Amino acid sequence: MSNRDLGFSPGEAVLITGAGSGIGRATALHAAEIGLSVSLWDLNPAGLEETAALVRPHGTAVHTWVADVSEDDAVTAGLADARQALGGIRYLHNNAGPASSSDLPFDRALEICVGSVRRVTEAWASTGPGEGAAMVATTSIAGNLLGTDNAWYSASKAAIMGYVRHLASYRAGEFRSNGVAPGMTDTPRLAGFAASETGRRVLQRIPLKRMATPDDIAWATLFLLSPLAGYINGVYLPVDGGWTVTQ
Ligand SMILES: NC(=O)c1ccc[n+]([C@@H]2O[C@H](COP(=O)([O-])OP(=O)(O)OC[C@H]3O[C@@H](n4cnc5c(N)ncnc54)[C@H](O)[C@@H]3O)[C@@H](O)[C@H]2O)c1
Repeated sequence: MSNRDLGFSPGEAVLITGAGSGIGRATALHAAEIGLSVSLWDLNPAGLEETAALVRPHGTAVHTWVADVSEDDAVTAGLADARQALGGIRYLHNNAGPASSSDLPFDRALEICVGSVRRVTEAWASTGPGEGAAMVATTSIAGNLLGTDNAWYSASKAAIMGYVRHLASYRAGEFRSNGVAPGMTDTPRLAGFAASETGRRVLQRIPLKRMATPDDIAWATLFLLSPLAGYINGVYLPVDGGWTVTQ
């Protein structure tokens, strides 16, 4: 166990959606590094297997589930499978979501984005995650602080935070709920963006003068899930290098 275990107990489990790449993969790696068992979910089997292979050397239990989190049956079956493999799942990282550049119809995008966060949260909550349970959703500064050209992206990220605030108000007896809002983060979906003209312009406006790494977002997420954050409920935490305070 690392000396930065954040107060988690060995063997507790976290379910991470979108674990096959980027932020979800980084959360999985650091969760395992500090002793958590992990249930890794993604619709991309190859990415998921790569993450699992990176996580396994840490020696904690690893469960994988190939699923599209916008499908009810896949989510219900995944929770049952995860519980069989790992026992109870105390923590949930709702992270999967389509890239902001995806060409999605508005209504369907909201269904996929905020609908999936609700679907996975309700399925997980129904298993009774127990004392100290917590959920973090990956939102975006594009939801509540900046507007993007894709209407569905800003709208769905803001909706996710609205749902988190509902949970924080009405479900705190079951679990804490918080939102992590990444700024521009160096994951495959933003490959090449920092070097583009727009990317360079944005970087100039970020006080820390760099993109976030997936690790930056993962640690913020793990902190909010952890017992150290036991009195933090309903916050929207931008992890953006100060970008939005300069706007
Ligand atoms: N990269 C950024 O700059 C940035 C900024 C703000 C917010 N975010 C948010 O962070 C989260 C993770 O993004 P990332 O940058 O790590 O992207 P990524 O593309 O590296 O990883 C996302 C993973 O989620 C999976 N996924 C997508 N839809 C899914 C679904 N319906 N069911 C199961 N798995 C699914 C993908 O297969 C992929 O492996 C997303 O919610 C994204 O909106 C990213």
